[in-house]
Amino acid sequence: MIKGIYLDNAATTKIDPLVLRAMLPFLGNQFGNASSPHALGQSAKKAIKESRSIIAESISADPSEIIFTSGGTESNNFAIKGIAFANKNKGNHIITTKIEHPSVLESYQWLEGQGFEISYLETDKHGFVSPDNLDRAIDDKTILVSIIHGQNEFGTIQDLSALGEVCKKHKVYFHIDACQSYTKTEINVKKQAVDLITLNAHKIHGPKGVGALYVRKATRIMAWQHGGGQERGRRSGTENAAGIVGFGKAVELASDKCHLEKMRGMKNMLIEELIKIPRVKINGPGDEKGLPNIVNAVFFGIEGEAIVGFLDVEKIYAATGSACSSNKLEPNPALIAIGLMPQEVNSTVRFSLSRFNTEKEIKKLLLKLPEIVRKLRRISPF
Ligand SMILES: Cc1ncc(COP(=O)(O)O)c(C=O)c1O
Repeated sequence: MIKGIYLDNAATTKIDPLVLRAMLPFLGNQFGNASSPHALGQSAKKAIKESRSIIAESISADPSEIIFTSGGTESNNFAIKGIAFANKNKGNHIITTKIEHPSVLESYQWLEGQGFEISYLETDKHGFVSPDNLDRAIDDKTILVSIIHGQNEFGTIQDLSALGEVCKKHKVYFHIDACQSYTKTEINVKKQAVDLITLNAHKIHGPKGVGALYVRKATRIMAWQHGGGQERGRRSGTENAAGIVGFGKAVELASDKCHLEKMRGMKNMLIEELIKIPRVKINGPGDEKGLPNIVNAVFFGIEGEAIVGFLDVEKIYAATGSACSSNKLEPNPALIAIGLMPQEVNSTVRFSLSRFNTEKEIKKLLLKLPEIVRKLRRISPF
């Protein structure tokens, strides 16, 4: 049991005890290499196969379309660079947005140095990409569109069906980063025209260091990791059997729709009370068009860091931005992209919930927070 109230689940989540229990044999006696033909190896191979099926089924894919990786960062790098280089004879133009995770933005920055041309689509003030704008941005050199599905700072969920149809119409590959949205909103590759999907385990109470890339059959993608030919030659390296088993178990446990209702209820309660605090603004959609677990708010006139610090003293753990980028000094670019001024970005706090949070915890936060805000506003120079 962690001591305190953990509201930083968009950074990472605690491992579900049932996930840990499923993993332990593969960190202990069942340590075989899935490529070994003997019984120990075959037991790891079977377990990996089962997880692959669970994950494939969760998005209505075929198990052969799931490639296990070391996490969301690797899956994003693989999808983007793999498509870019395998299709450069067709064109060098790629479309993305300004609200992506750094593992996407940095990959594109690197590709720019390799002769690719990247267009960054604007979003509206809630972070939505317009399918019409996407339609207009695609030209005959475009090979890939890649868009974050559930935004990690303010929770905006893109309209996958509409964006996918635009890509399909132009015969352009469509990649989504679904690290935050996976299991929290529907992804169905039979209904939605998505070709590549980045997934990871540690945002859904699975282990860190394991993820997957869904790659639709017949997609032209270049492998980046060469070696023993695992994952059908698309991603070499001895499989992380324990991690993959944990990932599968985490997906199985996350599929209960009650969790979503529970998170959505707590989120609504939190927003309802936050907006009663003077000079507070919610970023992102704030309604059912946003993820059920992310609330991002500007507390005008105070540093978000100060609020998070005071909450920390109360053993309430929140964030000022994504953990992946909070060690950078510049204001979070995704928040700037939806129109916040740098000073407002510095005044934001992100509360991200999980199925393990309780209403009692949210009430405790709501008891402490107005007091902290009042105290900080008294001493703030702004
Ligand atoms: C939207 C998004 N994409 C990618 C990642 C990176 O995933 P990983 O930590 O598994 O490398 C994260 C993690 O913060 C994320 O939120």
